Amino acid sequence: MNTPIDLLLTHAGQLVTCASDGPKRRDAMNDVGIIPDGAVAVQGGVIVDVGKSAVLEARYQAREVLDARGRVVMPGFVDAHTHGVYAGDRIDEFEMRIQGATYMEIMAAGGGIVSTMRAVRSASLEHLVQESRLRLDAMLAWGTTTAEVKTGYGLNTEAELKLLEAIARLDQSHPMTLVPTFLAAHAVPPEYQGRADAYVDQVVNEMIPMAAAWYKSSHFAQEERPFFCDVFCEAGVFDVAQSRRVLEAGLRAEMRPKIHADEFENLGGVSLAVELAATSVDHLDVTPAQERARLADSEVVGVVLPGVNFNLGQCHFADARGLIDAGAVVALATDMNPGSAPCPSMPMIMAIATRYQRMTPAEALNASTLNAAYAVGLGHQVGSIQPGKWADMLILDLSDYRHVAYTFGHNPIQTVIKAGQVIRDKRAR
Ligand code: NIG
Ligand code: FE
Repeated sequence: MNTPIDLLLTHAGQLVTCASDGPKRRDAMNDVGIIPDGAVAVQGGVIVDVGKSAVLEARYQAREVLDARGRVVMPGFVDAHTHGVYAGDRIDEFEMRIQGATYMEIMAAGGGIVSTMRAVRSASLEHLVQESRLRLDAMLAWGTTTAEVKTGYGLNTEAELKLLEAIARLDQSHPMTLVPTFLAAHAVPPEYQGRADAYVDQVVNEMIPMAAAWYKSSHFAQEERPFFCDVFCEAGVFDVAQSRRVLEAGLRAEMRPKIHADEFENLGGVSLAVELAATSVDHLDVTPAQERARLADSEVVGVVLPGVNFNLGQCHFADARGLIDAGAVVALATDMNPGSAPCPSMPMIMAIATRYQRMTPAEALNASTLNAAYAVGLGHQVGSIQPGKWADMLILDLSDYRHVAYTFGHNPIQTVIKAGQVIRDKRAR
């Protein structure tokens, strides 16, 4: 036939497809859909065929052929939870924690999220974009081709809008696909100290309608891309009643719900997520068995963030093993942020998840690609190598995908392909 196409990627020793018609649960998470000596045909940035190299070589005439030379080829990582757009760092708090202060003590004393809020409020939009672009570059170098990015360091109308604008500019000028999430309810800003309900009024009555209007006039809406609303449901931050008000206001404005729940204390955020049919509920470090079962019976994706526990020097991790065994859809993410997880690397998160959460390398890979795509509302566009999805793929300097989790501190990503374009290539040609 020799159908003409843009790109034919051939001779993947392991073509790790992660293919599935929906998110994976239980035993399916142990199947990464390997095709030995696999190939992928790409046309117009989209995957049109997947199969054995010999078969696809006979079937297509490609403008460009990329020979993977026996290496692992896998879907680009989807980082389902990041706070990647901000200014400055929190290196002093890192040292305070080493000396024994806890994350929540630092936050209660006016540091933490509020300290990054100060840096963001005083940064120009251009500066925010410039600094954050470097972070996205680092994530891309570790193989992330799609990332959710939250606001939440502005904490007033003007600065939250500036963060949304920065996310939009980066999405349009950086190869990575970004999914915006509005997180004005990330912390109570100093001007509302002790008046969390009054701040929630402000979020519900002014900030969410403003964010919804911004979205409607943005390229995200024109391209029918998802837009989320999130809240930090935690003791000393926003309780369940306040979280419900925020997310219901988001729903009225057509923003899909996400929740930070059970990071330090269990307040019932998982039940709220299930009741509101949230797209995801994230952290789950202290979720009791009963609520884990409720999550498992739902479509809500449970996003676990073991880089946070690692970074905070904790020995306790979310019970990802229990969640998977109960039948929940589990995804992994970095939580990339200046306080609880300054980490751009999904392979690092897989390394932690396999060791401390007893996820297998296959489970961790599906959780970092396919299931993560469902956690950001892009399950039908990204997260696996199958016809109809965007051609977002990685060539790794490995012959067995399990090494992604087995080795750590070493970046195995050789080539990054985004929508059929080679955008990074470390390989000798
Ligand atoms: O997901 N927990 C709340 N938000 C972030 C931390 C953000 C920060 O510390 O700057 C998280 O861990
Ligand atoms: Fe977070």
